[in-house]
Amino acid sequence: MAKKPLRIGLIGYGFMGRAHSNAYAKVGHFFDSQHEIVLQAVCARDEVKVREFADRWGYKSIETDWRKLVARPDIDLIDIAVPNNLHAEIALAAAKAGKMILCEKPLAMNPLEAEKMVEAIEAAGVPNMVWYNYRRCPAVTLAKQLIDEGRLGRIFHYRAKFLQDWTINPELPQGGTALWRLDVAAAGSGVTGDLLAHCIDTALWLNGPIHSVTAMTETFIKERKHNESGKVQKVGIDDACAFLARFENGSLATFESTRYARGHKALYTFEINGENASIAWDLHDLHRLQYFDHRDQGVVRAWRNIHVSDGDQPYLKNWWVPGLQIGYEHSFVHQVADFLKGLDTGVPARPNFRDGLATDYVVDAVLKSAQSQHWVDVQQTV
Ligand SMILES: NC(=O)c1ccc[n+]([C@@H]2O[C@H](COP(=O)([O-])OP(=O)(O)OC[C@H]3O[C@@H](n4cnc5c(N)ncnc54)[C@H](O)[C@@H]3O)[C@@H](O)[C@H]2O)c1
Repeated sequence: MAKKPLRIGLIGYGFMGRAHSNAYAKVGHFFDSQHEIVLQAVCARDEVKVREFADRWGYKSIETDWRKLVARPDIDLIDIAVPNNLHAEIALAAAKAGKMILCEKPLAMNPLEAEKMVEAIEAAGVPNMVWYNYRRCPAVTLAKQLIDEGRLGRIFHYRAKFLQDWTINPELPQGGTALWRLDVAAAGSGVTGDLLAHCIDTALWLNGPIHSVTAMTETFIKERKHNESGKVQKVGIDDACAFLARFENGSLATFESTRYARGHKALYTFEINGENASIAWDLHDLHRLQYFDHRDQGVVRAWRNIHVSDGDQPYLKNWWVPGLQIGYEHSFVHQVADFLKGLDTGVPARPNFRDGLATDYVVDAVLKSAQSQHWVDVQQTV
């Protein structure tokens, strides 16, 4: 049977533009689908650079204005891989034009924007997803399976961290490629919306809704030169954030993120402690899941270091032979594979925009709590 083309219009060719393009290039070789990805167009503002990118990755055409891309009738899906301050405007236009949307995280700068995006996409009735890719590292997906099977029993604790060290230098400017993360006008917030958003999405998926939070944030470097204005400007983002949370299932949580943890590059870790068993995961060792089951016989009871590479484990039968591991980029391939499966079966893959809003509500409650120095209840999506 002839496959149905899915014509992609990618906006942004930075870190995520590359990660997504790599996923589009690989998915058809490893996962079956009734749909076939077509790299129809890529858009960014610099014509020379976007042309180079299109040639390298095999996009058929380019645009330098995202509005023109969204208006094109030969595009089925808009992929938003640009800084956070552009997500809402592009998504609203794309939903209005009836395009499917894959949007980078965090969904929006704030819940108000995110709510409008959810409303628009649900009114348009088009397939949509947010790129919270860590759900699809096989070891994390396996953790979800173990929890859903009830192996952990009642959950008592959830502990997550996302530590980096790349902004310690006070001479590092804010604004522009990659450094837009330090500019509150482009990013919306600092580590809370950038790194903790990942931890929150995984936590909501694995352990259910968060009821309330209490947080503290700090901005260690108060002023930085802005790449666009050339002036030294106030830094408006949070450099570090730690918060406590209560989940609706009664478990207690701690979350911490910083870009000032010297020696750590992308140390995303979580540990979950249940009545019967515990699990732990570490992005620096992403193909392993640590599992402790108290019901094991005493003489052999210990933490198991599961090398997630077997065909019985999530996604792995589509890759190599048991024992050979896969890496970071595969989480994006899996996301595209699941999105296509959703189109094939009519059962949409998640996280969708509404799930992205749920994470934005937690981010918002964390930032409000840091400001008020009080516990804040998290708004829930219906
Ligand atoms: N899922 C993840 O793990 C993950 C990782 C990194 C970034 N992100 C998210 O992806 C998004 C992009 O981040 P990045 O790291 O790729 O940033 P980046 O700075 O590497 O790339 C941003 C791209 O956007 C383009 N751009 C900026 N303004 C534009 C405009 N007006 N029109 C068209 N193109 C424009 C830039 O030219 C650049 O190609 C952000 O929302 C970020 O939070 C997600």
